[in-house]
Amino acid sequence: MTSGKFIVFEGGEGMGKSTQARLLVEKLESEGVTVRLTREPGGTPGAEAIRALLLDPPGEGWGPEAEALLFAAARADHVARLIRPALERGEWVICDRFLDSSRAYQGRAGGVGDEAVLGLHAIGSGSLLPDLTLVLAADNSLVAKRLRERDGDRADAIGGRSDSYHSEVNAAFGRFAQEEPERFRMIEGGDSIDEVRERVWQAVAPLLEARQI
Ligand code: TMP
Repeated sequence: MTSGKFIVFEGGEGMGKSTQARLLVEKLESEGVTVRLTREPGGTPGAEAIRALLLDPPGEGWGPEAEALLFAAARADHVARLIRPALERGEWVICDRFLDSSRAYQGRAGGVGDEAVLGLHAIGSGSLLPDLTLVLAADNSLVAKRLRERDGDRADAIGGRSDSYHSEVNAAFGRFAQEEPERFRMIEGGDSIDEVRERVWQAVAPLLEARQI
C-alpha cells in the first residue's frame, strides 16, 4: 500500500493556522506532491453539518460530554470518508486541527479528560494519529489583537469562551508537545507570515526527503 503523509496544524485561536496550512499546500504542490487541504470540525458534508451544530448550537448549547461526542463523530466521518482514503491513494493530507484540539479544548479545558477523548477517538477513528503535528503558538496580546481584527464581536460558541478557558487550551498544547516531542513541533507563530512559513517548511521538508529516498 502506498501511503501519504498526514500533517496537522494545531494551536489556540488566532494563531494563523489556516493561512499556514494553505501556504504549506502551495509549497508541497510546487514540489509535485498531491495534497488534500481539509479542516476540523468539518471536511465532509456530514462533518460540516456537525460543525454548524457545534459552533452555532441550538438552545442552550452542548454540555462538555455531548460536545466531545459531536467532535468525535465529525472526526469519524472525516477520517473514514476523506482522510484514510486519501492517504491510501498516496496523497498527503494537511488538516487544520484534529484530535489534539479535542484533547486540549474538551479534554483539558472542558474537563472531559484525556482518556475519555482518546477512547472516543479509538471507537470513532481507529486511533489514527498524524505523522506530524505543528503547534503554532504566539504571545497572548498579539493573538487578542488578531482575534479582534478577525472576529470583532462575532466569535463562535467556542472561540467566545473565557480567557481562562483559552489559556488552559494553549497550555495544554504546550504540554502535549513536551510529552511527545517525536510527534509534535512547536512553531513560534508571532512573526511575519513569511518567517512562520519558513519555520513550517523546516519542520515538514524532512518528511518529503524521506519519501524521495
Ligand atoms: P476553527 O475556528 O479553527 O475552525 O475551529 C473551530 C472551533 O472549534 C475552535 O474554537 C476550536 C474548536 N475545536 C474544539 O473545541 N475541538 C476540536 O476537536 C476541534 C477540531 C475544534
